[in-house]
Amino acid sequence: MEKINLIATTTFGLEAVVKRELISLGFDDIKASDGKVEFTGDESTIVKANMWLRCAGRVWIKMGEFKAVTFDELFEKTKALPWGDWIPVDGKFTVVGKSVKSTLFSVSDCQAIVKKAVVEKLKQKYKVDWFDETGAEYKIQVAILKDMVTLAIDTSGSSLHKRGYRADAMTAPLKESLAAAMVQLSYWRKDRILLDPFCGSGTIPIEAALIGRNIAPGLNRKFASEEWERIDPALWKQARIDAYKAIDYDTELKIYGTDIDPEAIEVAKENAIKAGVDDCITFEVKPCEETTLMGDYGVLITNPPYGERLGELKEVENIYRALGRIMAENTTWSTYLITSMEYFEKLFGRKADAKRKLFNGRIKTDYYQFYGPRPPKKN
Ligand SMILES: C[S@@+](CC[C@H](N)C(=O)[O-])C[C@H]1O[C@@H](n2cnc3c(N)ncnc32)[C@H](O)[C@@H]1O
Repeated sequence: MEKINLIATTTFGLEAVVKRELISLGFDDIKASDGKVEFTGDESTIVKANMWLRCAGRVWIKMGEFKAVTFDELFEKTKALPWGDWIPVDGKFTVVGKSVKSTLFSVSDCQAIVKKAVVEKLKQKYKVDWFDETGAEYKIQVAILKDMVTLAIDTSGSSLHKRGYRADAMTAPLKESLAAAMVQLSYWRKDRILLDPFCGSGTIPIEAALIGRNIAPGLNRKFASEEWERIDPALWKQARIDAYKAIDYDTELKIYGTDIDPEAIEVAKENAIKAGVDDCITFEVKPCEETTLMGDYGVLITNPPYGERLGELKEVENIYRALGRIMAENTTWSTYLITSMEYFEKLFGRKADAKRKLFNGRIKTDYYQFYGPRPPKKN
């Protein structure tokens, strides 16, 4: 059977992490480029990728890729693609778009042309003149970069970072996919202590607990392609059964989240209950200056305030200094911290062993990594 070409979109900087996730899920033909990772598979791949990818934005079916510099070219090449393989006669198909450094720069015109071309193609297939579009949704994206057009259909629906556990977002919550990436980029393993001393609504501890328990991030949400005719509902049912079976309830996790704000801690606790991991995280109201590192070989992973808000800078500088002093007290611990503050290492008092550029939403940040020693092997 012909392979389906798929694209997992990512935020810039996370391509390698998503590539690693796709490899460990056992998929083929994996190729990473800016902001996306391509792979191939069949219908079950679509189901599994949506259910298990922790760090991707969405999973798309890549319908085609071609060069176009005129609207005629865009129309004809779009019409040539096999839209009827996916979109049924009652399918609802909307078109979204983006264009960067391209001759065809009017996104709304490109969207209208793609829609018209898809309608023409489907008219030929279904021998009808009019589509009611009363059925499942097929969101089509036309993305043009330097005159190269990529056409894709969204299989995910809402972005994959929406796991369904986040209640009220506190100010500046981290995207779940970025928090999961921070954990996956660290040397934290489920037998080590994890601490987030600026946990806010608890995203990092909760994502770590989901990873530690091997809970599929998509287990408690819906996906656009669940409604599609072409994907057998039995595949979704089986994927959920498999995901439930894969959960590791036996390992005892030692995950801690603290924050100065009592309201944030309440929200974090509610989120952890919703995510089904409240039994493996201890949340506590505590200023970071009072942090004591319990045990050895722990891993601190955190998203502190960045000092970007007016009047916050001095306070944040002091927080970073205090954190540096606390972490220096026990050199077996590792520290992983994301911030946009360019002189963070100076305040922390140590040069990072590694640094990775990441985007936290629109904010350009660095992910600073300070490695502690490896824990001794258990006999
Ligand atoms: C960028 S937010 C963290 C957001 C969190 N990662 C989330 O997903 O919700 C920074 C957090 O640091 C907390 N904070 C600020 N100053 C603090 C201090 N001195 N000690 C502990 N927490 C502090 C704030 O209450 C806020 O929740």
